[in-house]
Amino acid sequence: MTVLVTGGAGYIGSHMMYRLADMGEPVVVIDNLQTGFRESVPGNIPFYQGSVADKALVGRVLREHGLKTVVHFAASTVVPDSVRDPLGYYANNTVASRALFETAIENGVKQFVFSSTAAVYGQLDSEVVTEAMPTVPVSPYGWSKLMTEVMLRDAAAAHDLNYVVLRYFNVAGADPAMRTGQSTVAATHLVKAAVQAALGIRPKLEIFGTDYATPDGSCVRDYIHVADVAAAHVDALLYLRSGRPSAILNCGYGRGFSVRDVIGMVKAVSGSDFPVIESPRRAGDPARVVADSRLLRERLGWQPKHDDLRTIVAHALAWERKLLAAQTVSAV
Ligand code: UFG
Repeated sequence: MTVLVTGGAGYIGSHMMYRLADMGEPVVVIDNLQTGFRESVPGNIPFYQGSVADKALVGRVLREHGLKTVVHFAASTVVPDSVRDPLGYYANNTVASRALFETAIENGVKQFVFSSTAAVYGQLDSEVVTEAMPTVPVSPYGWSKLMTEVMLRDAAAAHDLNYVVLRYFNVAGADPAMRTGQSTVAATHLVKAAVQAALGIRPKLEIFGTDYATPDGSCVRDYIHVADVAAAHVDALLYLRSGRPSAILNCGYGRGFSVRDVIGMVKAVSGSDFPVIESPRRAGDPARVVADSRLLRERLGWQPKHDDLRTIVAHALAWERKLLAAQTVSAV
């Protein structure tokens, strides 16, 4: 059964695209290439450049390929950018997703997997976050995803559509086979920034806040390997195909590492003692965000294979080295 992957040229979407292709599942990709990379999608995979809000394009692609399954990654994903440009985020995430849902339903799509985020929970003062906890986002990004979840829930209830929403925690690392990875140059995410500092691409790394009520004063997050995130999507598809009911599931490992832990691991794996500066807190950062991931394991049978910070960092570093080598070659 062919699967439409929206945002398949992006970081997480490209991992899912490869995983499906590795399984022998036909895949079709739509990506507007605003943040994705055309070269992330191999030439043998049908690729359409455009917005998921383009009903004519999406409708044509769904019909031409007889698609009944959509995995929807395409989105803007940077929390601080969403604070600066909320209406842009609501347009690209919420409004565009509404159009995609409508086109999908009009064309008989039956299964939908949607990329959501731990940012829907906002500031929670809790050891681990369960799906039953209140959703009160503190950023337009979080709201844009929560509103999309609500639309999907209501549309699925009114039509013949089942869905899985995966709320990602801190996705990091790269394809173990090094076919794809996080390629955004100005990425703000910690693991990417730290491996860039290790390779001298950034002069230093800042720790945003060292006075949190955490064991070492820096923020704690649930870093999950991108390959395990892709695996969760495959499990979600199999779950939906077996006719089971819609579900909203956290996508994390259920354990946390501090900013200092991550920096220590990047230094250990890279062998580079890059400069680290202690800076003030970054606006909107909760002290601790760790998933309760029991539902994902129980309902989808998800069994992660890369739950190891060293592996996550090693893969992120190897990918960054590959990007750097490609730049050096093209500059010669
Ligand atoms: N951090 C630093 N220095 C850096 C970059 C990050 O100290 O150079 C810190 C942040 O302050 C934070 C932690 O590292 O405490 C993780 O920050 P990231 O930017 O890597 O990730 P966030 O936790 O802010 O965001 C992630 C996802 C979002 C999602 C959010 C939900 O990237 O998409 O989790 O909690 F919305």
